[in-house]
Amino acid sequence: MRWLIGLILLLTAFPALADEDCSECHIEIQRHFAATAMAVAARSDDFKREWGEAKQNPECLSCHAPSQAAGVVCADCHGNGPHPYARLKVPDVCARCHDAPGESTVRRHKSSLAAQRNLNCLSCHVKLGGGTHAIMGATNTEFLSMAARLHLALRQENGQQILVAAVRPRTGHALPGGTTGRSVWLIVRGLGGDKSERWRETRRFGWLKGPDGAWEEATLAPDIGVNLELPWPGRDGVQVIEAELVYRFRPGPLEEPDPRQVTISKAQMTLRQ
Ligand code: HEC
Ligand code: HEC
Ligand code: HEC
Ligand code: HEC
Ligand code: HEC
Repeated sequence: MRWLIGLILLLTAFPALADEDCSECHIEIQRHFAATAMAVAARSDDFKREWGEAKQNPECLSCHAPSQAAGVVCADCHGNGPHPYARLKVPDVCARCHDAPGESTVRRHKSSLAAQRNLNCLSCHVKLGGGTHAIMGATNTEFLSMAARLHLALRQENGQQILVAAVRPRTGHALPGGTTGRSVWLIVRGLGGDKSERWRETRRFGWLKGPDGAWEEATLAPDIGVNLELPWPGRDGVQVIEAELVYRFRPGPLEEPDPRQVTISKAQMTLRQ
């Protein structure tokens, strides 16, 4: 009998609290977190499809549902113990899932200007008024539109004109942040006087699968970004240059339709004849 009383005491002293037990008291926090993409990371149609294609690889759940729930839960960040909980360090607590192969967000964040200015992940990703747990991301279009600015300039070199398309990320990490699933495209078009397209240059930024199957990072560096140089912008009778920076929720080529695609920034320039 004594072992049974001991077991009952042990169980009541260390109750294995499920998330529902947290929401009894932390109602607001539970409500805010439940509305994030993380809370349902293993339930979205996209995930279920790709997980099926990956033969239900348990590796996927190590980020999408480490506690075998619908997604990320309280315990995945705060741990399984009872109160009191140790204070979490941001970004270290995020590194478990946001700094793996094919994910460099936390690592790239540490070398960003934002980190030097003492901004952390939550400074940008928390919805104003929503408290610590209303974490939003690229799926919020307004938030996404602050991700970068695009500028066009002309430079002279040895009597030749060179067009510079400069992208300056304002993310606190590489652009696109997150995993191999996203991509950002810089599209520059030369237009004739009649607005018809005379030439077009595109560059993709994101992760690419190398010939050996390993992912290689080809994202835009935080703050620095890129200066893409194009010689002879006026070739083929071009009078107007149009450029745009497009964010895509898919890694594949531009020709593949992405209904969620968003234009982050645009620029235009008229060439002097
Ligand atoms: C993605 C990681 C993450 C998840 C998941 C998470 N939290 Fe937090 N939580 C944090 C961070 C970061 C802080 C702020 C740092 C600190 O105080 O430890 C925090 C702080 C808190 C606090 C202190 C008060 C506050 O608002 O800052 C409470 C209470 C809390 N969390 C409860 C919960 C509950 C309940 C859940 C599940 C519904 C949950 N957390 C899920 C990361 C997380
Ligand atoms: C019986 C009510 C109650 C339940 C159930 C409860 N909490 Fe709390 N929790 C509190 C109170 C009260 C505080 C102190 C005030 C505050 O910081 O919000 C607190 C504080 C916290 C903190 C801040 C750090 C600390 O330990 O003081 C975290 C993190 C936290 N709770 C997480 C959780 C998680 C995760 C669960 C579910 C496993 C949970 N709580 C369940 C009432 C509760
Ligand atoms: C200076 C603001 C800023 C800081 C600091 C910041 N981010 Fe971001 N983050 C953004 C913006 C803007 C985007 C959207 C563009 C993109 O995907 O890079 C983004 C995108 C992301 C994405 C991809 C979302 C998706 O749906 O694909 C993840 C994941 C992410 N951030 C996590 C983090 C983590 C973790 C940290 C801390 C290590 C952090 N961010 C710090 C601004 C910031
Ligand atoms: C247990 C793993 C795990 C931890 C820990 C974790 N995340 Fe995530 N996070 C994910 C997964 C999985 C997704 C993808 C959700 C989806 O789009 O289905 C995600 C998505 C995000 C997004 C994009 C949301 C959107 O709407 O586009 C942001 C921003 C983010 N996490 C920030 C953080 C921050 C900040 C921390 C630390 C406080 C953190 N995460 C900790 C697994 C985690
Ligand atoms: C290292 C952590 C991690 C692992 C492991 C991981 N993911 Fe993800 N996954 C994320 C994050 C973070 C996002 C959010 C989008 C982004 O940041 O690019 C995401 C996004 C996704 C999305 C897109 C969801 C959307 O809303 O667009 C799918 C689908 C997905 N993952 C499937 C998988 C599959 C299948 C596996 C296993 C083969 C896997 N993931 C392994 C972290 C991870």
